[in-house]
Formats: sequence, C-alpha cells, structure tokens
Amino acid sequence: MNEKMRALTDRLELAGGLSLQEYKELIDGRDEASAEELARRAVNVRKRVYGEDIYVRGLIEISNICRNDCYYCGIRRGNAACERYRLSPDEIMECVDEGYKLGFRTFVMQGGEDAWFTDERLCRIVKGIKESHPDCAVTLSLGERSPESYRRLRDAGADRYLLRHETADSIHYGRLHPPEMSFEHRMECLRQLRGLGYQTGCGFMVGSPCQTTSCIAKDLKFIETFRPEMCGIGPFIPHKDTPFRDMPAGTLELTCFLLSVIRLIHPYVLLPATTALGTIHPEGRERGILSGANVVMPNLSPAAVRSKYELYNNKLNTGCESAQQLADLKKRMESIGYKVVSARGDAAKPTLIKEKKNGCI
Ligand code: 5AD
Repeated sequence: MNEKMRALTDRLELAGGLSLQEYKELIDGRDEASAEELARRAVNVRKRVYGEDIYVRGLIEISNICRNDCYYCGIRRGNAACERYRLSPDEIMECVDEGYKLGFRTFVMQGGEDAWFTDERLCRIVKGIKESHPDCAVTLSLGERSPESYRRLRDAGADRYLLRHETADSIHYGRLHPPEMSFEHRMECLRQLRGLGYQTGCGFMVGSPCQTTSCIAKDLKFIETFRPEMCGIGPFIPHKDTPFRDMPAGTLELTCFLLSVIRLIHPYVLLPATTALGTIHPEGRERGILSGANVVMPNLSPAAVRSKYELYNNKLNTGCESAQQLADLKKRMESIGYKVVSARGDAAKPTLIKEKKNGCI
C-alpha cells in the first residue's frame, strides 16, 4: 500500500471521517493491498464492538405493490410484468411466529409504498407482534410516509426504520427517480425518523447508473454526519423490466471496500451483508462479513410469494438467505469464524464502547 493510501486509512480510522476530496482519493486510489488493509482494520474494529456475533433479521416482504416508479427497481409501478401480491395481517403474523420458533428476535417488515397498509392497519400489526413477542424488535422498511404516520407507528411499538437515502447527491437522485420524487423529501423523512427515536437506517446502491466517485464521497460524508444506527449498502443489479435493464451491475469488490470504510467511520453501526451482495457472488455474504459487516437478513416471506419480490434479476430466494435454511447460514458463518446469535441485536452505544475499551465495564 502506498504512503498516501496509508495516510488516508490512518486518518479514517483515527478521526472517523475524511473530507469529500479525501474520500474520493481513497476510493479512486484503491487496489488489492489497500482493500485488504482496510478490511483487516474494519474486522478488528467490528470484533472490538460486536465480537464474533452475527445478528440475523427475519425479512418479511409484505407487499410488492408500489406507488413509486424508481428507474432501478423491479417492483416499480410502471412494471406491468410484475405479478403483484400483498400479505394479509394473518399471513404476516404467521411468518413472525415461524421466525420466532427459528430463533429470530428482529423482524423487518419491508414493502413497496402500498396504500392498503394504512397507519391503522400497520399499527395493529406492529402492536400484535410486540404483544405476542415482547422480546423482539420490529423494524419497518416501508418507504416515505407522513411525519404523523411515522409517529403513530413508533407509538405502536416499532423500534427501527430502514429508509435508504439511495444517493446523497441531489442531481444523481434525479437520475434514479422520476420527477415527482424528491431528494429533499427523502432526507427530510430520515431526519423525522431520527427525531422520533427510531434506530434509523440509511443506505445506497453501489454502482447505480450515473454514480460517480464524487456521489459515493457524498454518501460517505452523509453517513459520517447523519450517524445512522444501521446502513444498508449493496450492489446495483439490473432488472430486465426497468429502464436500467442494460446498465452494468455494481461490483463485489467496491461494495466490500465501502463496507470496510463505513465500519471505520462508525465502529458501532449495524451493517448488513445484503441479499444483493449474495446475489452477485456465491460467497458475497461471507465476503461482506469479512469486510466488516455484522448483520444478515434471511427471508421469512412465504415461499409462494418470494420470487415475486424481485427488486432485481436473479434475486436469491431459495438458498441460505431463506430463513428455513438458517442451519446452512449458521454453518457458513462458522466456517469463517463467526457465530449467528439469537438476539434483538440493537446498535451498540458509542459511549459504552469507549468505557469497554478503558476496562470500566
Ligand atoms: N439493484 C439493487 N438494489 C436495488 N434496490 C432496488 N432496486 C434494486 C436493484 N435493481 C434496493 C434499493 C431499495 C432497497 C429495498 O432495494 O436501494 O431501497
């Protein structure tokens, strides 16, 4: 690794951030040696905070009906070839009960922006989950809603909310989304979620069309300053029924590099090795963990609907990303020195980490 890359890496680890220009230099200057060094440090930092534990989240894809028309997404409104479905509250509850038996203690309800899921209906579902499984965390990933809606869902017991910002560059945002969607509103939603006390997750796709190094530098700067509890990044993968069908996919290499950078920016962030990463490479998830990720989100959706939640082509839906194959996932994690744990897996508090380092607790 050359002098410059070493200096940048040192600074990133010590200061927990870089300038926009330095982030750019770090990304553009990367090579195998610097990626390895970054991953080594990221893994050390993650071990200090979370040990060898890997948290699992049971992902329930509640609906692929969406009012939005994002250019990259397979379940966009304009995709007439997408076979639509919506789970009933009873079906959702069945997934949760099954997941609980398997050892899951966090459930992520993810879906398109489907108007059927009113605040009333969602609040009833969230309350139902919390009543029957008070030891579990409920995460929502249901897109942009009103401040009032976020508040009601929080009051009903939702603990966390995932809303990827998709890109921190407003011009790039406009290239990925139709004019009726707004970068400002997206960011405003994230601020509201944070203000309501949700553990909040942002994130972006790696290698999305028109993404430049400068866009990624802005993503990293946003992550550095927003300080999310969770951050989801995965490679962009084209979907055949979208305007981006012929665009190249993002790479495993850059995604893993960025996972390491994000781990060094925020040692305590909950960082998933995403399904998209597992989709572009057979060992993508393991590689993600070995770059600093500490979360995996197996699919708990009913088998009959799984293939319909196709955000991108060839999305995994039968292997160890399915919750029923948890034993396989456990084995894979053990084979690289990690342990899948049955726990809520909340974000560690930065203050606690400091105390731990000083031997106070
Ligand atoms: N490739 C990779 N990720 C995608 N997402 C949507 N479409 C794609 C795609 N084609 C991601 C978005 C969204 C999350 C649920 O899935 O970042 O926020």
